[in-house]
Amino acid sequence: MMRFNAHYAELKESYLFRRIAEKTDAFRAQNPGARLLRLGIGDVSLPLCPAVIEALHAAADDQSKKETFRGYMPECGAPFLRRAIRDHYAARGIALGEDEVFVSSGASDELGDILDLFDRSCAALVIEPAYPAYVDANIMAGRTILRLSANEENGFLPAPPKDGNCAADLVYLCSPNNPTGAVFSKSQLKEWVDWANERGAVILFDAAYEAFITDPALPHSIFEIEGARTCSVEICSLSKTAGFTGTRLGYTVILKALERGGMNLNAMWVRNRTTKTNGVSYIIQKAGAAVFTPAGQRQIEDNLSVYRHNAQILTAVLDELGVCYYGGKNAPYVWMKCPRGMGSWEFFDKLLKEAQIIATPGAGFGESGEGFIRFSMFGSPDDTREAAQRLRGMV
Ligand code: MLT
Repeated sequence: MMRFNAHYAELKESYLFRRIAEKTDAFRAQNPGARLLRLGIGDVSLPLCPAVIEALHAAADDQSKKETFRGYMPECGAPFLRRAIRDHYAARGIALGEDEVFVSSGASDELGDILDLFDRSCAALVIEPAYPAYVDANIMAGRTILRLSANEENGFLPAPPKDGNCAADLVYLCSPNNPTGAVFSKSQLKEWVDWANERGAVILFDAAYEAFITDPALPHSIFEIEGARTCSVEICSLSKTAGFTGTRLGYTVILKALERGGMNLNAMWVRNRTTKTNGVSYIIQKAGAAVFTPAGQRQIEDNLSVYRHNAQILTAVLDELGVCYYGGKNAPYVWMKCPRGMGSWEFFDKLLKEAQIIATPGAGFGESGEGFIRFSMFGSPDDTREAAQRLRGMV
């Protein structure tokens, strides 16, 4: 008899954000008049910026005329967008080839798809608490998962395992971190890069939140670190940077210098993409290219500063109340310790029922997240201000 992928039986019953949505829907059904404050999933609340909207309209018009109509797009990305991203890196002093940039339909899709490139026997090291898809995608693929705890003792930024027996082949680094908001310094990343090069491991660097970094000393890209070119893949997204959560667009950087056992990861990804996708649509890629224009960069900064201000609103109240929290600087998440030793789902339920605040329980990001709750700064300033006030009675 044929068999389904039995590894699905190893997954938790439902995905974190789905479970939160179900609990929220149930609460709303029982309390139809309640004003819910959304600080849960990191979904943006501001509209796309004018440069992007103009590009979307213009690209839709292109599709209406025989001379400018576009059908299938190149599988690895439109040259105009690959060039724009390459130039964006060049402006930060990182030299890339246009063919080392791959356009994707978003970081979460890519984080799962890219696992095709690695043998099933490769063990994945996940620093927990972590974006739950790192673990789930590897469970689905039947891979061994090793865990390293990020906690208060190591400032949520653990160093590579010293244990020479650690069997990790792949490691996920997310900086600025989801969910803790911690950001690796250059010297901390250098330790990881050296560790990966020494053992032949590959770093999957999730840079989805890099746009929130304002401290000039902090790295936006793993490729700012010497040695990263031979051990790293960088996965990035316009979701949080430019409000593309619903529009869907991201990019991945795989350098040609990344080889193992005579195989070249860049060439393998070209082979994979040309087989498994027909590329991201012309209209969406045009919208993405608008993000990298001077007007686009200015306009997305306006939106980013609203989210940064949300973090200031919330953390000012937490400071005043003397509550222990992390993040909120150079990152769009505030990672708060639950009061009075409460469990994170327990505090989630209390916040929902008694203050109508939707947050994300730390335990949803792995056992190391137990005892914490995450607040997203992507909500509206009104909701964030109101949530900060309602928290006064809860912590
Ligand atoms: C989050 O809330 O952790 C993210 O928004 C989820 C995602 O990017 O898929």
